[in-house]
Amino acid sequence: MRSWSGRLIEISARVEGSFAALRMTHLLSAFALAACSSPRNVAGNLSEPTAATPLKTAFADAFVIGAAVNDRQVTGKDVRGAALITAQFNTVSPENALKWEWVHPSRGTYHFGPSDAFVDFGVKHNMTIIGHTLIWHSQVPRWVFEDANGKPLGRDALLAVMRDHIMTVVGRYKGRIKGWDVVNEALNEDGTMRQTPWFKGIGDDYVVKAFEYAHEADPSAELYYNDYSLENAPKRNGAVRLIQALQRAGVKVAAIGSQSHDKMDWPTVVQYDSTFNAFAALGVRVNITELDVDVLPPAVRGQGADVATRGAVSRASNPWPAALPDSMQRALARRYADLFRVFVAHRDVIDRVTFWGVGDGDSWLNNWPVPGRTSYPLLFDRQDRPKVALDSVLATAPAVRR
Ligand code: XIL
Repeated sequence: MRSWSGRLIEISARVEGSFAALRMTHLLSAFALAACSSPRNVAGNLSEPTAATPLKTAFADAFVIGAAVNDRQVTGKDVRGAALITAQFNTVSPENALKWEWVHPSRGTYHFGPSDAFVDFGVKHNMTIIGHTLIWHSQVPRWVFEDANGKPLGRDALLAVMRDHIMTVVGRYKGRIKGWDVVNEALNEDGTMRQTPWFKGIGDDYVVKAFEYAHEADPSAELYYNDYSLENAPKRNGAVRLIQALQRAGVKVAAIGSQSHDKMDWPTVVQYDSTFNAFAALGVRVNITELDVDVLPPAVRGQGADVATRGAVSRASNPWPAALPDSMQRALARRYADLFRVFVAHRDVIDRVTFWGVGDGDSWLNNWPVPGRTSYPLLFDRQDRPKVALDSVLATAPAVRR
């Protein structure tokens, strides 16, 4: 019913050329990574994962660790998924339930069934509950920006719509949702402000306004700015400028969320280091908010995670429909170990690491940027069994209490 392909305000299909060349580059980088990484932290035996310690326990001294969860999991229809979430994670984010098109589909109509189920699940299991997301240009209905005659709303009218939404949604979960991704993806890759309907309708202080309303709705909630590709210097610098502007305006930004929809060869550990240092210097915390690692050949150019991006379906873009080869499982395990080593190294500034999904079967990367692929980006497989990457992540924990 709510397919994400259907309702995007900015549909900018960007099918890029030469898939063969991209695939070759991708495979070469994966093999280069496999050759360079130290095998020290990688469990060697693919058939016997030793995931004895829950992730949340292993990283208890570093950060909370979580997953984006879906309706089937929180309502208990997916019994196995729900059990895995409660066993492994101590924080949850809603994959879709709190996005505007779900929670506020038409003027004056709020639809709180799925988001209530999400929050109830988190409360019941004593988890840190995250709100995702209030102000974004995707998964937001057109009516939000238009009057009854379809004409674009002026600044004041659009601010009133924004305020009503934030006060209603944040207010409903006051005291239960610990922190909110107030604004998602306000920046272009070059660090300038993205020309979203929010920006066009309100002006560049729309971010300040969103944070002010969220603070008004729940003064105790942590407020976050969330985006992707922040590890690339131009966008990272744009985020630094944006946060500084918010701070000058008197807004308290608790943390910057790095979505971290990562590739096998991007971002580098050095890019992460620089990013965490730059954000720490602002006096804010950092959350890794949507972690996954795409092992499939890149189907589009670039490193972004714009949900409106589309690649073409081809056999080459979906090379492992049955199973991921062992060599790639090991490469993924090494990649995850490298990522967690840098997260652990920066645990003084990182509060949370959240995966964007639980088992591979539920990942959005099966349908983005190409629909119908078989993707392997997470620590648990399609049967929710631990992958070897789980062991390699656990091996990086500061004090694994086995
Ligand atoms: C994705 C969800 O996982 C999909 O189910 C949905 O169809 C589209 O959105 N950046 C974000 C997330 O901030 O909200 C997106 O989630 C993934 C990219």
